[in-house]
Amino acid sequence: MSSGAPRSTWSSRWAFILVTIGSAVGLGNIWRFPYMTGAQGGSAFVLVYLLCVALVGLPLLMAEILIGRRGRGNPVSAMLKVAEENGASSWWGVLGWGGVLGALLILAYYSVVAGWIVEYMYQAIAGVKILTPEAAAQEFAGLMADPLRLIFWHTVFLALTVGVVARGVISGIERASLLMMPALFAILLFLVLWGGMVGNMRAAWHFMFDFKPELLTGQVVLSAMGHAFFSLSLGMGVIMAYGSYLDKHSSIAHNSFWIALADTLVGLLAGLAIFSLTFAHGLEASSGPGLVFHTLPLVFAHMPGGRVVGSLFFLLVLFAAWTSAISLAEPFVAWVTERLGVHRAVAAWGTGFAVWLPGVAVCLSFNDWSGWKLFGLNLFDQLDYLTSRILMPLSGLAVALFAGWIMSRENAQDEIRLPAAQFQLWRQVLRYVTILAIVLVFVYRLMNPDP
Ligand code: TRP
Repeated sequence: MSSGAPRSTWSSRWAFILVTIGSAVGLGNIWRFPYMTGAQGGSAFVLVYLLCVALVGLPLLMAEILIGRRGRGNPVSAMLKVAEENGASSWWGVLGWGGVLGALLILAYYSVVAGWIVEYMYQAIAGVKILTPEAAAQEFAGLMADPLRLIFWHTVFLALTVGVVARGVISGIERASLLMMPALFAILLFLVLWGGMVGNMRAAWHFMFDFKPELLTGQVVLSAMGHAFFSLSLGMGVIMAYGSYLDKHSSIAHNSFWIALADTLVGLLAGLAIFSLTFAHGLEASSGPGLVFHTLPLVFAHMPGGRVVGSLFFLLVLFAAWTSAISLAEPFVAWVTERLGVHRAVAAWGTGFAVWLPGVAVCLSFNDWSGWKLFGLNLFDQLDYLTSRILMPLSGLAVALFAGWIMSRENAQDEIRLPAAQFQLWRQVLRYVTILAIVLVFVYRLMNPDP
């Protein structure tokens, strides 16, 4: 049911690019990508990753923007509309739903983790120093054991997220990204410079960029592909939703290129900044919560200017997580607003509440409910597994099938408007290479839960 009301459009193509980079640049760039790169092949890994971006990430990014803009609506109605236009079954609407609901599930645990970031930022600003590895471990374990503190920060972060989405596409999402993303880039550059001045940049450079092809296994290649997926926010209707607000005249291919490039660069620069400081203190490279909540607080505590640098670092991570969380909420909020005709603010806060509840359960899964496990995984890990290993690849696969095989060539070309040879290249890669790659990753990662 389309209301015919004029839809918002991003103020410029750079606004779209920045907002979408905001979605793409998130926790994944900071706590996963740098370590993956260094530990799994250095510049050899970077090459493989760029190949994954070129063959899987970029074609899918373009396909999602294409569908969103063609359908000019939330992911569910966009899928329905484009399916109808191409004489395909309305079952394709299910794909839109998979994305919208999957994004909410991700948001439920993403918000809990981002809450930890807010707590650590607060501590960094307050000047709390964590001086020994034991103290760092104890501090983090203390947080995990404290349901009220976890729920408090989860609530704070989710409220920040929903507050932005409630204000609207332009005055909320775009404005917030236009403030946060340049600040994020500035902090990142400052941290790289700082790392060059007081850190061990040489060691960081070797770790990140030495050519170590012997570390490239089949498994590494597949995990690189999985990461490209997550990092570019693919397969969840997020890019579709953002694409639906893109001006008809803006080039989908060029925009996608800049988004993918910036997302990768942020991960590489974050690696140089983080590891030059880490190595200068004789600490080991690591990833995930261990890096951000154990190693780095120690580094900041022992570093000149550590209070300022630590506060800036956590602010950077907060901006990265905040703009990503905003993008995870938007598809569902857009659906509620457009389909149910509810005011955006009501839709956003309602969505927030719907996500808050499972988020609370995630908080409890670390302590009071830690005994409740399925396949040996607590709720947090279950959600991560379900979304990043099942929903994301399946719906990414569906997007590729839809844009590559269901949409007619004319229909797709009419929207994407590339010179014929480039259009063919995109379409053929999407139809064969991307699809094959996703199937491989899906099957492999389903069977191998570890990496
Ligand atoms: N890309 C973000 C990160 O790297 C996470 C994210 C935001 C995401 N939106 C998404 C992942 C949509 C998958 C789908 O942390």
